[in-house]
Amino acid sequence: MEGVPLPAIAAAAGTPCYVYSAGSIRARYARLSAAFDGVPHHIHFAMKANSNLSVLRLLQELGAGVDIVSGGELYRARVAGFAASDVVFSGVGKSIREIESALEDGVGLINVESEPELIAIDAVANRLGAIASVALRVNPEVTVDTPHAYIKTGEKGQKFGIPRDDVARIARLIRELPHVRLRGVGMHLGSQIANADPMRDALPRLLEAIVTVRAEGHAIEFMDVGGGLAVAYGPGDVEADVESYARLVREAALETGLTLLLEPGRFIVADAGVLLTQVLFRKHAAGKDFVVTDAGMSDLVRPALYQAYHAIEAVQETTGVVTADVVGPICESGDFFAKDRVMPDSHAGALLAIRTAGAYGYTMASNYNSRPRPAEVLVDADRFAIITERERYEDLVRLERAHLQWRTA
Ligand code: LLP
Repeated sequence: MEGVPLPAIAAAAGTPCYVYSAGSIRARYARLSAAFDGVPHHIHFAMKANSNLSVLRLLQELGAGVDIVSGGELYRARVAGFAASDVVFSGVGKSIREIESALEDGVGLINVESEPELIAIDAVANRLGAIASVALRVNPEVTVDTPHAYIKTGEKGQKFGIPRDDVARIARLIRELPHVRLRGVGMHLGSQIANADPMRDALPRLLEAIVTVRAEGHAIEFMDVGGGLAVAYGPGDVEADVESYARLVREAALETGLTLLLEPGRFIVADAGVLLTQVLFRKHAAGKDFVVTDAGMSDLVRPALYQAYHAIEAVQETTGVVTADVVGPICESGDFFAKDRVMPDSHAGALLAIRTAGAYGYTMASNYNSRPRPAEVLVDADRFAIITERERYEDLVRLERAHLQWRTA
């Protein structure tokens, strides 16, 4: 990766481990930002995709803000050096405690997803003597074609966003809430969206919502189009066409005169990362070949959860090709990285790189089967650094109590 051989990283950090290319992250960020040259815009990296402090710091230095969805993400963003004003707080279920910390810190914008949430924000702001800057997240109710139903959000009947018919009523309600100031309107269509159709369908609806809130007397400044740009995971996948996406969105933004906010996650970091794993065994059973790796679904859950495809490459030269299932050590039949994959024949000790793992990889990792979460490594040109230590067994039980202090209620 860049100028560092992956076997050297495996030797230093152990396997499984995530390895990210700083150069790739920089290039992706620059490409996206350049596509919006000439329009006032701000990229808020959706840190649910990759919330490692060093990755966040890298993006912060490039001028990004962040899109967060929890108090924990707010904490991380601040530790990584983001100003509170560079934070957009999204999410359908913010707790009172999370709203309090957001207001105490002074986050730039809270994306509101329902009327009761709005009322809760006004009440918390009142208590703290603050004015909350909010944006309405509208559900544009368009058809969204994503590779898996779990990553759609902008369709009718989803839990996300304010139905577009309710926008006028809620904009009117905000006028009566003294501790809330409406500063923007936004939407998010879903994730891994490869073609421009959903955006083309949704933009007029977002513009309609902007006209509606302006007609209710709100002088807004921001228009947020969310994230969702697709990356290519495997053969036949198409990556989002950033330039034509930008043409569409720029035009709409210029029409409104608003500052454009973008919330990409995957597009910035997915391609930058691999999950580096070692083959434990080559197994032949019931007429099938299996490659058993030291990484499992606890490290990368996307194949198990979304039947997601990840390309797998042999790190060192191999000879021969095999059709195999690549599986992890976890006691679940869903614990696989590939089924019937034609791949380089890989024997015990070989290193494999599971590609396009920089987004929703480590952030979705768990300790299932009491497996310590893997290490994370950042490569920059000919250098590399461990940016997250591999968890130790002690970490697995750190918060558990063996000697109980019983209480009665
Ligand atoms: N903004 C909001 C409000 C979101 O909910 C999301 C993602 C994003 C931005 C960033 O979307 P992106 O640009 O990364 O597509 N775990 C799934 C993806 C879930 C995405 C959830 N929301 C996966 O591994 O495919």
